[in-house]
Amino acid sequence: MTKDGRHTLGLAPMEGVSELPFRLWMAQVSAPAFSSTPFLRATDTYPAQLPLDFAAEVTRAWDVGYQLVPQVMASEPKDFVRTAQLLLPAADFVDLNCGCPSPNPVSGGAGSSLLKVPAHFLGFAERLADSLPAQSFSIKMRTGFDDAALFDELTSGLRPLPLRQLTVHGRTRRDRYDGRSRWDLIQRAAEQLPCPVVGSGDILSAASFHEIAAAAPSVSRFIVGRGALRNPWVFMELRNQEPVVIRRSLLQKVVASFALLTELGMDHQIDKLEPLVKKGLWQNSAGNSGQAWAALYEELSTAYAGKIVAFKDLEVDRITLGRVKMVWNYLRSSLPDVYFEPLLLRSKSLGELLTGLTRLDPGDEAFTIQNRPEWDWLFTSTRQKPGATPAEA
Ligand SMILES: Cc1cc2nc3c(=O)[nH]c(=O)nc-3n(C[C@H](O)[C@H](O)[C@H](O)COP(=O)(O)O)c2cc1C
Repeated sequence: MTKDGRHTLGLAPMEGVSELPFRLWMAQVSAPAFSSTPFLRATDTYPAQLPLDFAAEVTRAWDVGYQLVPQVMASEPKDFVRTAQLLLPAADFVDLNCGCPSPNPVSGGAGSSLLKVPAHFLGFAERLADSLPAQSFSIKMRTGFDDAALFDELTSGLRPLPLRQLTVHGRTRRDRYDGRSRWDLIQRAAEQLPCPVVGSGDILSAASFHEIAAAAPSVSRFIVGRGALRNPWVFMELRNQEPVVIRRSLLQKVVASFALLTELGMDHQIDKLEPLVKKGLWQNSAGNSGQAWAALYEELSTAYAGKIVAFKDLEVDRITLGRVKMVWNYLRSSLPDVYFEPLLLRSKSLGELLTGLTRLDPGDEAFTIQNRPEWDWLFTSTRQKPGATPAEA
């Protein structure tokens, strides 16, 4: 919730990113009010049972301080319904993915391909409404498949249905992540529909949010995707309407904690993670408090290794190290220039990466974490290095 109490902010579903460890980490970093899982692809045989870590917050009744929005992708209503029934009533509601642009789901009749023909899309939604309790499903969509010409027809047809909410990413499937999100269309849907409309696209900072919220005054719920990867403190910045100040020693604990959560979030370790959640460690977010991160790191390290491990000795699985590097790669785009050190991404161990941060910034002075537009090539098709002119990009 923002300071004025008018806006509720959540973490967007992101395949390969917004899994359990990332959600738990984001809750500690900047506490979104709700968080979405990436889509789970349901077929007529899968999943027979829910994967352990898919929606642990609700299936294990964890009190984590955010509402979980589990998302399911399906090309047949019955497959969505069957999977939703595994999640309900533990989850408040289950979200249908009608936005994924990837060729695989699209050729299989799922994701954004559901938007091609309004009668098919609305028939699908009606089947869900007939089979599930009122308010127990929601939809996340793009503005269209090839273009936004059918957007009004797609959304107005949803009006009579008992939808929990409709999330709109203001781009078409063809746009992928190019151009700008159409907040004018999101606003129009919010004016027309009785259910809450959640807006998505291009929220990166307090400044960008200010502009977007002004362009979509009927929207009160928003999700942030790539902006949370670039700046994980984005929800704190949006709530307080000012950039967050951190320092290197805190950053090390934050990165180390992400690594340990990634380890502890794996199926075979999840029983070590559960007592920490049950102990109430997710009742408060660590935010930018060095002390709170030190305490959290100690808890995570003890759960993982039986003792508090010094950063230089911290060892994790190769896959975990890869995920840490992915998160670091985006995060560094919001940090001072000294952190943009390509060699760090070649670190052979987590210890090497973490101690490398001391080498880059030995003074440990405070700095603001801030999205830098020159880095906005992330997840767009136009890659641009900082300082490069568009012609070089
Ligand atoms: C890496 C990545 C994975 C995504 N995965 C999903 C997904 O699983 N389900 C979904 O509905 N949207 C997915 N999206 C779309 C986002 O939820 C969001 O609508 C979009 O990125 C625009 O918001 P942003 O500008 O804040 O990133 C994904 C986006 C990215 C960048």
